[in-house]
Amino acid sequence: YRLALLGPPGVGKGTQAKLLCARIGACHLSTGDLFRANQCIQDPSSAMAAALDAMGRGELVSDELVISMLRERSNCLRCGGGFVLDGIPRTLAQAESIEGTLRELGVDLNAVVSYELPLKEIVDRLGGRRTCVSCNAVYHATANPPEFEGTCDHCGAELVQRDDDQPETIRVRMQAYTEATQPLLQFYAGRGRLIRIEAHGRPEKIVERTLDALQNHL
Ligand code: AP5
Ligand code: ZN
Repeated sequence: YRLALLGPPGVGKGTQAKLLCARIGACHLSTGDLFRANQCIQDPSSAMAAALDAMGRGELVSDELVISMLRERSNCLRCGGGFVLDGIPRTLAQAESIEGTLRELGVDLNAVVSYELPLKEIVDRLGGRRTCVSCNAVYHATANPPEFEGTCDHCGAELVQRDDDQPETIRVRMQAYTEATQPLLQFYAGRGRLIRIEAHGRPEKIVERTLDALQNHL
């Protein structure tokens, strides 16, 4: 499978991307994770510093940087096992660029999955999210708690709330989604690629729902 996962912040794209990749043996590519990995670098390039500032405010990072990061990782797009793009593309410019890059590689997206959930549940997912400072594992205070509060099950490091999970920043991220990313749903529907999935229920249920929908679609 060659997939892109879309959906508002906190709908569960990262959680689904990991589970889907484990099931289908695909390569997971998340620009959010790539940017967060640069947060602890001492002297980031000026482009990366600007990106991290934008991310801290909840705004989108520039298309130029996102596109160049994707090009650097074109190995992932060539991967024989396929790939899952997590939170990419987020703008029309990114969608067109990815289309061009994939065309050069002689492949195409099989499907674009849009996860959908009522705002109230989204706010609950973001408010309860806890992330490992070391291995980036993602938990939820009530829906998916670690065995020992505040400690990562995988590596024992500390769990923290993400900087951009504050109410005002969440509002800006939601607005960026509505203004820049939601128009992509029509773009991909027009190409016969869009699959809409309701993101309620346990993560394992949602993976099954997604795989069923993909089988029916392809
Ligand atoms: P990114 O990291 O992609 O953030 P996001 O899109 O806001 O999405 P999140 O990571 O917040 O949520 P998610 O949908 O992955 O949910 P998760 O699985 O964690 O991007 C961050 C920033 O980077 C952006 O704001 C932007 O600045 C920049 N950026 C990144 N890509 C960019 C691009 N292409 N262009 C421009 N800028 C870009 O789940 C959330 C919580 O819910 C967790 O606690 C989880 O455990 C829990 N949960 C998940 N599923 C369930 C379930 N089924 N039931 C109960 N709880 C659940
Ligand atoms: Zn960890």
